[in-house]
Amino acid sequence: MASVPLLALFSLTLLFLPSSPQLLRNPLRPRKFAETLITSLNLLPGIPQIEDDHLDLSGPRLVERKLDLEILGDSGSDVSIENLGHHAGYYRVEHTHAAKMFYFFFESRSGSSDPVVLWLTGGPGCSSELALFYENGPFKIADNMSLIWNDYGWDKASNLIYVDQPTGTGFSYSTDPRDIRFNEKGVSDDVYDFLQAFFKEHPSYSENEFYITGESYAGHYIPAVAERVHRGNKEKLGLPINFKGFAIGNGLTDPAVQYNSYTDYALEMGVISQVQHDRINKLVPACELGIKLCGSSGLVACLASFFLCNSVFTSVMAIAGDMNHYDIRKKCEGPLCYDFSNMDKFLNKKSVRDALGVGNRKFVSCSPLVYEAMITDWMRNLEVGIPALLEDGIKVLVYAGEYDLICNWLGNFRWVNSMEWSGRPMFDPAPMEPFSVDGKEAGQLKTYGPLSFLKVHDAGHMVPMDQPKASLEMLKRWTKGSLKENVDVPLAADM
Ligand SMILES: *[C@@H]1O[C@H](CO)[C@@H](O)[C@H](O)[C@H]1NC(C)=O
Repeated sequence: MASVPLLALFSLTLLFLPSSPQLLRNPLRPRKFAETLITSLNLLPGIPQIEDDHLDLSGPRLVERKLDLEILGDSGSDVSIENLGHHAGYYRVEHTHAAKMFYFFFESRSGSSDPVVLWLTGGPGCSSELALFYENGPFKIADNMSLIWNDYGWDKASNLIYVDQPTGTGFSYSTDPRDIRFNEKGVSDDVYDFLQAFFKEHPSYSENEFYITGESYAGHYIPAVAERVHRGNKEKLGLPINFKGFAIGNGLTDPAVQYNSYTDYALEMGVISQVQHDRINKLVPACELGIKLCGSSGLVACLASFFLCNSVFTSVMAIAGDMNHYDIRKKCEGPLCYDFSNMDKFLNKKSVRDALGVGNRKFVSCSPLVYEAMITDWMRNLEVGIPALLEDGIKVLVYAGEYDLICNWLGNFRWVNSMEWSGRPMFDPAPMEPFSVDGKEAGQLKTYGPLSFLKVHDAGHMVPMDQPKASLEMLKRWTKGSLKENVDVPLAADM
């Protein structure tokens, strides 16, 4: 019943939506969705659907190739580049009609017993290659298209997987529109199926500890995939996965709390005035009601609240002007507010495409189609499944660069603090303590038991890009010990 007034509001709010594609992106002007759905599921117009060199339904589900990319500089590893396994592959997704999921797999530069870490970029619809090349991958792209070792790649402490998902993102595609995903059930089932195939292909890694990480809209994906993996283990639905924890960087997880925090964060950071704060806050109750009705499985209320709530964000941005909403210290330049054009150039090189085995497949850094398909998923609350995971001892780290507006630390801090779980009475009063790297405070840490929150200094939305060393330290300490202490033991003790 309540959906009627919300729908009316929905059509009203449609009128003043800006259009600007983003990483965790601003609302787009809604387009002719059904038409887009049929014509583009990462299918290049002009390439006949039949020309699909990968779609061999009788062949193996997972086809992986070893990469032999030239990388300049010093890997910092004892392992020779020939022996260091870099791979790219396609997984023909089970329980789909014709979906192929693209991924990179980089074996650790430090040792194969390191944990296996999965990275998911957000959007929804943005490729994980954004993180690979600009955040925490083994290498970076120089302006002349050379690859250069990244001294702080997360492959220095983990066996690292980047997946392009949901279908239609990056190099992942389908020739069948029925494979498009609209919610976290679809997302988490597909990623779970991929992980099953991955560990089957790489049995030597199946005993390694496994962690799920990612950023931005992955604040939705990660808890959903975590829950799916944990359930698969508990109910013995597939190969057991040695799942230990998940980390969300500048994520969107609990929209009610986080949308309520935009104005407070913007006021605190001097982006808006008190008067503007109070005026924009008048939009918040309707947004909150919409999110409440949306819950964790609604549809119409989710759509309505998507538009209602984003009017809070766009009102702040209307005042902030050309400020980069991923880093309030910067100006927004380029379609994603940063210049990622080298990635597109690199991934369109014939030699690279041949090495990756992607054929003529178009690389989509951020897919508007996937984004729009996930619109009713946006306002759903993904915090609800986390307490059960904490109770079972799964480690949870929520970290946030302090200068990001769109998934700001304040909103994340608030939902983490208000989460109901058995450790809350201890987590609640725990102090914020310095997180030091090289004797310098790199962030503020609050932790109790399996739950940690880290506010990262001098960083925006993309923490590993802005603070590569601190973010690698974070990963190391969190996976191998405790965030509180330095696991950089002296060499003498390292037998
Ligand atoms: C490309 O740029 C890198 C880094 O600036 C440099 O080390 C390398 O020599 C350059 N390669 C060529 C072929 O100019």
